[in-house]
Amino acid sequence: MASMLHLFLLLGSLMVASAGSLNENFDITWGDGRAKMVNDGELLTLSLDKASGSGFQSKNEYLFGKIDMQLKLVGGNSAGTVTAYYLSSKGSTWDEIDFEFLGNLSGDPYILHSNVFSQGKGNREQQFYLWFDPTADFHTYSILWNPQRIVFSVDGTPIREFKNSESIGVPFPKNQPMRIYSSLWNADDWATRGGLVKTDWTQAPFTASYRNFKADACIWSNGKSSCTSNSPSSSSSNGPWLSEELDTTSQERLKWVQKNYMIYNYCSDTKRFPQGLPAECSSTS
Ligand SMILES: *[C@@H]1O[C@H](CO)[C@@H](O)[C@H](O)[C@H]1NC(C)=O
Repeated sequence: MASMLHLFLLLGSLMVASAGSLNENFDITWGDGRAKMVNDGELLTLSLDKASGSGFQSKNEYLFGKIDMQLKLVGGNSAGTVTAYYLSSKGSTWDEIDFEFLGNLSGDPYILHSNVFSQGKGNREQQFYLWFDPTADFHTYSILWNPQRIVFSVDGTPIREFKNSESIGVPFPKNQPMRIYSSLWNADDWATRGGLVKTDWTQAPFTASYRNFKADACIWSNGKSSCTSNSPSSSSSNGPWLSEELDTTSQERLKWVQKNYMIYNYCSDTKRFPQGLPAECSSTS
């Protein structure tokens, strides 16, 4: 028994998984009471009214991780509202991995907007409709971020893979620790049908909810990572996610989403890039 316990403690300390309580992992950062921890941090809600939106951020900084959060988006007429959920570093050459959910009129589809910034440069948008109503229930939105790739997933189905293409000169986010941020705000100048549909403030306050945060991640603190350095002898002590890739089944599902639900891909927007598509587009990212 004692050695069993020992093994668990050892695994626990090496894998640095954190789960559950949102108040242990996040701070509400703005919104003047509009963001709330409910039930001891089991649930977090953000709200938006005409005067202000609201937001929160993670206490920890992470350098790589597999991060899951369940979100239930603003229901009813959510046109004009944007719920942003993303990882970002600081400074003028920041890295960022974005999920943004663009609201819509009741019954019209939300858009899941995604982007990847490396060293301050983004312009890598991909947008999707979802195969379910994201306001009816909680769904899991995940970011796998390791040195080889970034994978965006919804309920375990990968919707986007951004591969490390440093070998062809494309910077990849791998040196700057990032925090998790989320906010609910008014973006009716662009969000819904490109800004045509405005926020209906008679429906306010608008609310989005969060629960079941889980991070298998390397926590960055005082200039050091909680993960062991990636030498062959020690890599097995880090989580398998640190070298995870998409297996055949996941690749098939990714193709299914991209074929049936993708509504915008910067990699096929030849009008936008008349001088040639970004380099990473040729290596399917
Ligand atoms: C909102 O619904 C319209 C009509 O179906 C659609 O064109 C648009 O892509 C939807 N989403 C957003 C965020 O505009």
